[in-house]
Amino acid sequence: LNYDVSRERRYILEVLFNGLRRLEYRGYDSAGISIDSASVAGPVQAPCDSPLVFRQEGNIESLVKSVYQEVSATDLNLEESFSIHAGIAHTRWATHGEPAPRNSHPQSSGADNDFLVVHNGVITNYEVLKQSLLRHGYTFESETDTEVIPKLAKFVFDKANEEGEQTVTFSEVVLEVMRHLEGAYALIFKSRHYPNELIACKRGSPLLLGVKEFAEEQNNGTSYNDLKFISTNGHPKELFLSSDPHALVEHTKKVLVIEDGEVVHIKDGGVTILKFDHPKGKDGKFISRPASVQRALSILEMEVEQINKGKYEHYMQKEIHEQPESLTTTMRGRLIRGGSSNRKSVLLGGLKDHLKTIRRSRRIVFIGCGTSYNAALAARPILEELSGIPVTMEIASDLLDRQAPVYRDDTILFVSQSGETADTLNALEYALGNGALCVGITNTVGSAIARNTHCGVHINAGSEIGVASTKAYTSQIVVMAMVALAIGADTISTKPRREAIIESLLHLPSKVKEVLKLDQEMKDLAKSLISEQSLLMFGRGYNYATALEGALKVKEVALMHSEGILAGEMKHGPLALVDENLPIVVIATRDQCFSKQQSVIQQLKARKGRLIVMCTEGDATAVCGGSCRVIEVPLVVDCLQPVVNIVPLQLLAYHLTVLRGYNVDQPRNLAKSVTTE
Ligand code: G6P
Repeated sequence: LNYDVSRERRYILEVLFNGLRRLEYRGYDSAGISIDSASVAGPVQAPCDSPLVFRQEGNIESLVKSVYQEVSATDLNLEESFSIHAGIAHTRWATHGEPAPRNSHPQSSGADNDFLVVHNGVITNYEVLKQSLLRHGYTFESETDTEVIPKLAKFVFDKANEEGEQTVTFSEVVLEVMRHLEGAYALIFKSRHYPNELIACKRGSPLLLGVKEFAEEQNNGTSYNDLKFISTNGHPKELFLSSDPHALVEHTKKVLVIEDGEVVHIKDGGVTILKFDHPKGKDGKFISRPASVQRALSILEMEVEQINKGKYEHYMQKEIHEQPESLTTTMRGRLIRGGSSNRKSVLLGGLKDHLKTIRRSRRIVFIGCGTSYNAALAARPILEELSGIPVTMEIASDLLDRQAPVYRDDTILFVSQSGETADTLNALEYALGNGALCVGITNTVGSAIARNTHCGVHINAGSEIGVASTKAYTSQIVVMAMVALAIGADTISTKPRREAIIESLLHLPSKVKEVLKLDQEMKDLAKSLISEQSLLMFGRGYNYATALEGALKVKEVALMHSEGILAGEMKHGPLALVDENLPIVVIATRDQCFSKQQSVIQQLKARKGRLIVMCTEGDATAVCGGSCRVIEVPLVVDCLQPVVNIVPLQLLAYHLTVLRGYNVDQPRNLAKSVTTE
């Protein structure tokens, strides 16, 4: 939303399109945009002309193309200037309703576009609301849950006007709408009845307000620490609302993290934030008690260069290759070596006050989804070993489906790179309700998991934009290994083991750099697998997780069936699949499971299995007598070997995807942050 400086329509469109491009990794099956049809600056006449709405199936570029086509067909003047303009845009990951223009956002209240809404999240009681609106004569054109929101806004607005409440404000309309919504949402409302205003609100889904102030230098360095400054000490020239900092960082680093229940009202260059509490009144109805909120702005720790592809063709490729650096950043300042005895230890500031409680826990539970779950699985053995506490694994949705027992003396580690995954967040709410100590391990400062857990560790891997997680995975394993070291730090008997792990951590980035040299070899391997239907991966011990994660990468980006299998279970089913055609990756690097994996290889060879063996450098002959394809990787301490071993499999998945002609960074049907159940 821009003020005071005249901006051409073309600029406004491009700002919105670029924002969508930055958010595309969160959803890319359809997109939409709404801008004002005519300049409504000066004494504002409400209602103004209906805002223009464009919606299109497919990725952002399809939307851009269709908007410019329509612009030229209708002679819409791209040079027309606006001194105030409120635009909204959205890129979608379908939950309710197939990808199609009618299901894209903005969703509308009806033909005149009285109220328009973009939504991130899911409204769980939309059926009830829809039935009630149908009874009031509303008709629906989409299958989305979102469509009830603008229609409800129109209903509230019309009702207030009928009752003679001429002065109902935009925020009053939205507060009333919020009273009826259940589920998770971050919403932005635009209305022709409130030209030049925008309202945003949230519950559950993330929302940021970005403030760009052009005149800053002329203000003698006045720092805008308080939102009050915005309205009293000059207007901000552009304000941005987004689910995600990636869309903001090229405009401003000054942001306000909007909290649950808050309503942001932008009007006349000022920002008011209302807190929506909804205690029940005496008659059992909810009453809203908006109170104005003021909070300091935060500064985004993100650089535009970080979120560009640089010299790489794809984000996934870039993120695989930057792992030596991301691992270094993850460990920075956390590994302490020194003192007269050259003591080695780990310092995790976010955990240190809770270590005693964690050590007294009855059990430790890891909770996560997808790659985060796999990372936790990779760290499980070392956490069990160093803490001496039973460690159990839970997929977030499964814990909730079972309503599994969680106790006050449990420590629960919530692992999520985004910190926003709905299933993990719901599990967090459940565990908090059961009184467990909740620890967050996330890559997103200020995310819901980071804010709502009792303590935690940031993985500091930097922005990850490729939907398939790569560098966040390896940094998560390293963080969890450090958590294990910190928890076990009071046990004298494990000191040599801990020191050996710390020493290996210090060399890990250079080992990952070495293993990245396998790039061409993995490309060649990918060429030999390009037309396969299926690929199995066998692992055990520390590397069971590597098999699961390697298979997940191949499945999600290369769109090839792939399964990670616990090698110890091979004889109980998977062996039936083995023949001379099915390619099988066996992970057999040196650790205490090595001899067992050697026997697995023998059994597979006896069935003429088509093997690709991952082994420690120099072990090729030992593992399969030179009769199968090998991937040789450098040796590191056993519990960190999964960090090295996953890299060739990431490269394999990447090359397979490119060779098979699929979209690497935006795999079919997937999204980076799944903020719905
Ligand atoms: C989605 C992503 C995965 C990710 C999973 C968990 O499925 O596509 O890459 O592993 O969510 O996400 P989180 O942000 O909680 O780690």
